[in-house]
Amino acid sequence: MSISIGIHDLSIATSEYVLPHTALAEYNGTDIGKYHVGIGQESMSVPAADEDIVTMAATAAAPIIARHGKDRIRTLVFATESSIDQAKAAGIYVHSLIGLPSATRVVELKQACYGATAALQFAIGLVRRDPAQQVLVIASDVSKYELDSPGEATQGASAVAMLVGVNPALVRIEDPSGLFTADVMDFWRPNYLSTALVDGQESIGAYLQAVEGTWKDYSEQGGRALEEFAAFCYHQPFTKMAYKAHTHLLNYCGYDTDKDVIASALGQTTAYNTVIGNSYTASVYLGLAALLDQADDLTGKPLAFLSYGSGSVAEFFSGTVVAGYRDHLRTEANLQAISRRKTVDYATYRELHEWKFPTDGGDHATPEQTTGPFRLAGISGHKRIYQTR
Ligand code: HMG
Repeated sequence: MSISIGIHDLSIATSEYVLPHTALAEYNGTDIGKYHVGIGQESMSVPAADEDIVTMAATAAAPIIARHGKDRIRTLVFATESSIDQAKAAGIYVHSLIGLPSATRVVELKQACYGATAALQFAIGLVRRDPAQQVLVIASDVSKYELDSPGEATQGASAVAMLVGVNPALVRIEDPSGLFTADVMDFWRPNYLSTALVDGQESIGAYLQAVEGTWKDYSEQGGRALEEFAAFCYHQPFTKMAYKAHTHLLNYCGYDTDKDVIASALGQTTAYNTVIGNSYTASVYLGLAALLDQADDLTGKPLAFLSYGSGSVAEFFSGTVVAGYRDHLRTEANLQAISRRKTVDYATYRELHEWKFPTDGGDHATPEQTTGPFRLAGISGHKRIYQTR
């Protein structure tokens, strides 16, 4: 019998601030129905000047270390597409902030919003090689589009940390995976830009193309039948996208697209994304957290995952929820991470959006805006300085 490997613990973090879509709609004269119903978003997380992918990642990971210790963790994989350095892995700062031992392998992975799924799958491979080890997988991103662009309504920020190991307490990840790669320019960010470039309609089409491609490969690899799944966790750049994707998949497979059936397959996966916004590579796992936190008992039930990263790479795979999983959830902490955010007005959000460090190599402190356990205190000689509270 093959060993059971999967997600043993899962913890989320998001930013200090939040902008309600009502404020954005009021500023740009959009009917709020377009945001609330058309794209399915209520609000978006906005990072403070003294937080970034590292502080969110450390905030998500610290409770996992507090619960499980660090003795078995020999690898930290940090998935992100909003990297803070072209050479040094952001995970090394996290390694230091959460006190992992020096005998740890740390690496950063990138492929748009797909990165965390690659990290999870690579982690499973490492654990299969040595079942005594655990891998800390962290997905952390700040999603940023240009001000006054159509993408502005689909920004957000968050981190998800997952402990991957044998005999997981939450979800056992299964073979096979359905894979799909296509060279498309739907969304990208050249090194010299701080905001992403996107062709919105092209990106939606590319995502739907990838849904078909991964499902076709998943079926050919001998995966489960569609009706076996209790719920579907899709990558959610905006929550309506999950509905578009699932409707497309049902159509492609020749099934009816009954609204209630779709809502029951997806509804509980969107609760966190709808108020956090696009968190890029963390998004699909925020969907999983919301589902596990809210659903009636899912013990023994298979879940489907569709991870899409523009450019593009996608993967369809499944996981089965483990007996007793509810005793290991972090529902209260997850809800608290969301509810503790302070609402900012549109002008403040705009200022934060444009905030950046001078690039002169001098000493530059950040304003103290955050109240969380970790903060980015400043930059000195081009080096980022983090603080633990
Ligand atoms: P847009 O042009 O502002 O909006 O762009 P729209 O005109 O397409 O309207 C959006 C929806 O709202 C439409 O519904 C409208 O009918 C509806 P749909 O036809 O799609 O079902 N609508 C209304 N509904 C109710 N009441 C109203 C109303 N008005 C309009 N009054 C777009 C929207 C998402 C394209 C834009 O925000 C964008 O470019 N976002 C960024 C790109 C993106 O999120 N793409 C998703 C797929 S790619 C992906 O997931 C990867 C990604 O995460 C990056 C990565 O991998 O790293 C992005």
